[in-house]
Amino acid sequence: MEITPSLLFLQIFLLSAVALILPLSQRRRRRNGSRPPGPPGWPVFGNIFDLGTIPHQTLYFLRPKYGPVIWLKLGSVNTLVIRSAKAATELFKNHDQVFCDRRCPDSMTVHNYNQGALAIGRYGSYWRMIRRLCTAEIMVNRRLNETVYLRRKCIDNMIQNIEKDVEIRDPRSKEGREFFNAMGKVAEWSGKPNISDFFPVLKWLDPQGIKRNMERDLGIAMKIISKFVKQRMEEKKLGEEMKTKDFLDALLEYQREGKDGAGKLTEQNVFILILEMFFAGSETSNSSIEWAMAELLRHPESMREVKEELDRVIGPNRKVEESDTENLPYLQAVIKETLRLHPAVPLMLPRNAMEERNFMGYVIPKDTQIWVNAWAIGRDPDAWEDPFSFIPERFLSSKIDYKGQNFELLPFGSGRRICVGLLLAHRVIHLALASLLHHFDWELPINTTPKDLDMNERMGMAIRKLVPRTESNSQEACNIRKIKDDDRRPQYKVI
Ligand code: HEM
Ligand SMILES: *[C@@H]1O[C@H](CO)[C@@H](O)[C@H](O)[C@H]1NC(C)=O
Ligand SMILES: *[C@@H]1O[C@H](CO)[C@@H](O)[C@H](O)[C@H]1NC(C)=O
Ligand SMILES: *[C@@H]1O[C@H](CO)[C@@H](O)[C@H](O)[C@H]1NC(C)=O
Repeated sequence: MEITPSLLFLQIFLLSAVALILPLSQRRRRRNGSRPPGPPGWPVFGNIFDLGTIPHQTLYFLRPKYGPVIWLKLGSVNTLVIRSAKAATELFKNHDQVFCDRRCPDSMTVHNYNQGALAIGRYGSYWRMIRRLCTAEIMVNRRLNETVYLRRKCIDNMIQNIEKDVEIRDPRSKEGREFFNAMGKVAEWSGKPNISDFFPVLKWLDPQGIKRNMERDLGIAMKIISKFVKQRMEEKKLGEEMKTKDFLDALLEYQREGKDGAGKLTEQNVFILILEMFFAGSETSNSSIEWAMAELLRHPESMREVKEELDRVIGPNRKVEESDTENLPYLQAVIKETLRLHPAVPLMLPRNAMEERNFMGYVIPKDTQIWVNAWAIGRDPDAWEDPFSFIPERFLSSKIDYKGQNFELLPFGSGRRICVGLLLAHRVIHLALASLLHHFDWELPINTTPKDLDMNERMGMAIRKLVPRTESNSQEACNIRKIKDDDRRPQYKVI
């Protein structure tokens, strides 16, 4: 390209602009002693390049230098990061109300998704309505009790599929595969660092094409969901009353009765809510079970202990039921310890400050983005002894739980925005892990030591193991492989 005088002029102009802004912005930062400390950052881009590929880890290891809360500038977005149990206590006890708004990634505005959604919904009357609907009508023990049989069926399918060594998802259902495909892509797009979010001025450009892709894939998923919901609506119209109601029945009933201002719940909103439950629930639960298995394989003593407990409480002649969970304290401890070390959503969902606020002696301006680093809090050396080791026993004599009251263990968050699926996830993870352990024996192959197991993380919607257990072409990957069939409980070998 030729350098024309005007282009040259432009470059000089830009350079001098940067040269002018750079010292200015640094001076402003220095004078502004009221912000939390943080790495200095680049002009314009701020700390975007400081985050690395696994931001929650990078931010954890920055701690000794900057302390429990830090300040980042991500493009033009001010960001407060909470990294210790003490800072989290302060946030959720005294400032939850002001910090309970969300920031919506630009990509999620397609199909008006953000306007019907709970997880990325702005704090306001619509959000309060659907939140109340979920906590009071759907995620309550009474309703969850009514749907025990659905989860039973899923677990039975999973066990059978492992026995037969076939793919977990029913290969006959083309639509099911299409749906999971589209959802996987949606997860990928929503996990991509978004230039538009760092520089809202660039929104209309969609420089990475993320929004266009999102529009397509979210559209596919939404269409499949809407077909499914409409089918159910037809069935209901025909008066096929079911003995037991699932979540969709509850939702549709709520919409039809129009109680509690539910007139605002449109058909589209029902699709979005159902989609959201799939989206928020499957990857997170799946990854938690995967991490629990990986930790148990690395810690044979814990594996032995948890299987002994299952043998003692359940015995060889029956399946594990959800109601057994309360009698399985060691299993519960294993899951708490797994969620402490591997919270599926390590930075939770970004919150947004609705007003300027004094927080721990710092001034946090309105519209600051807030990241609560659950991964770092679970490893907070001030809150945990030997924080990097997997020791389920630490929970046996402790009352610490993950229901949002103990601020050193926040895999589901806390406060007004705490995970709405907590009770469901609690049931599913315990039932699934217990069933997998009770039905099969799992072990590392000969010549593999626990140290060989790859425990690296990869980013996505929920953090996953870098090498999933089911990937067979890698050496460290472990694959479930049946080695013996004649037992009632077939032996599985993990290679
Ligand atoms: C192991 C499983 C799960 C983990 C670790 C998890 C974690 C989280 C976290 C950290 C948040 C943000 C909390 C905050 O901002 O304070 C959240 C929010 C949410 N979760 Fe979960 N979750 C799990 C399972 C589920 C399930 C099964 C569902 C639904 C079926 C679900 C639905 C939601 C929704 C709708 C929100 C947004 C709530 C709001 O913004 O008001 N999650 N979850
Ligand atoms: C749900 O079921 C459990 C165990 O079957 C029972 O202990 C509990 O009381 C039930 N809860 C409700 C609200 O029905
Ligand atoms: C960033 O922006 C793009 C396009 O606008 C979007 O698709 C993507 O999901 C965003 N990333 C994040 C992390 O929000
Ligand atoms: C759960 O994760 C495993 C391994 O990453 C994957 O093969 C499986 O399909 C996932 N299941 C669901 C329901 O997403």
